[in-house]
Amino acid sequence: MTSRRERNAPELRINIDSDTYLHTLTARDAPQLFALTDQNRLYLRKWLPWVDATQSVEDTLAFIQSTWTQYANNEGFSCGIWYKHQLAGTIGYHSIDWSNRKVEIGYWLAAVFQGKGIMTRSCRAMVVYAFDTLQLRKIEIRCAVGNHRSCAIPQRLGFRPEGLIRQAEWLYDHFVDLTVYAMLAHDWKQEV
Ligand SMILES: CC(C)(COP(=O)(O)OP(=O)(O)OC[C@H]1O[C@@H](n2cnc3c(N)ncnc32)[C@H](O)[C@@H]1OP(=O)(O)O)[C@@H](O)C(=O)NCCC(=O)NCCS
Repeated sequence: MTSRRERNAPELRINIDSDTYLHTLTARDAPQLFALTDQNRLYLRKWLPWVDATQSVEDTLAFIQSTWTQYANNEGFSCGIWYKHQLAGTIGYHSIDWSNRKVEIGYWLAAVFQGKGIMTRSCRAMVVYAFDTLQLRKIEIRCAVGNHRSCAIPQRLGFRPEGLIRQAEWLYDHFVDLTVYAMLAHDWKQEV
């Protein structure tokens, strides 16, 4: 079940607080991650385009393996979010644009883990890692117009809205517009 790439790439853990940490996903997480997706299918598919295509543990495993290929190719990584020893969701960098030292962050939480600040804290940790460890200079978060809980995360972290991309994402039977929120390394360092 474990690919050669996965064995070769180091696992990464980012501690957030005594209850919460991020850890790169591994093949052994696939059953748990699929179960979490399956239990939250209706809630997640409102805003995420990949839910209907995730029908089995093998689909989730293929996603996890793609995150390891991305990581092994130095294009960023995705992590599971663990809260009180339970898998609560995921957060990850989309492919890093090294030429422009820019990256986009994506995330989701299972419904029962909402309302505790888990994603705002996880996102803050990924922002710090991108600026301090990866030495990137710009981070974007794209949220569908109307996805208020998602938009609140970059807003809480001081990201600025930079514009609206019309009909940017197909969600099963309709397009949604996306607001682009961005943070520059320079502005982040002034805030913290
Ligand atoms: C988007 C999503 C991650 C937001 O989850 P969330 O729980 O609202 O976000 P956080 O974990 O940061 O929690 C913030 C909430 O916790 C509260 N909170 C408690 N302690 C907090 C703390 N220490 N810091 C920040 N917020 C805290 C906030 O007040 C806020 O609650 P409220 O909105 O009910 O007032 C979640 O709704 C989700 O996964 N949705 C489906 C998938 C999706 O839309 N993904 C994003 C696609 S762009």
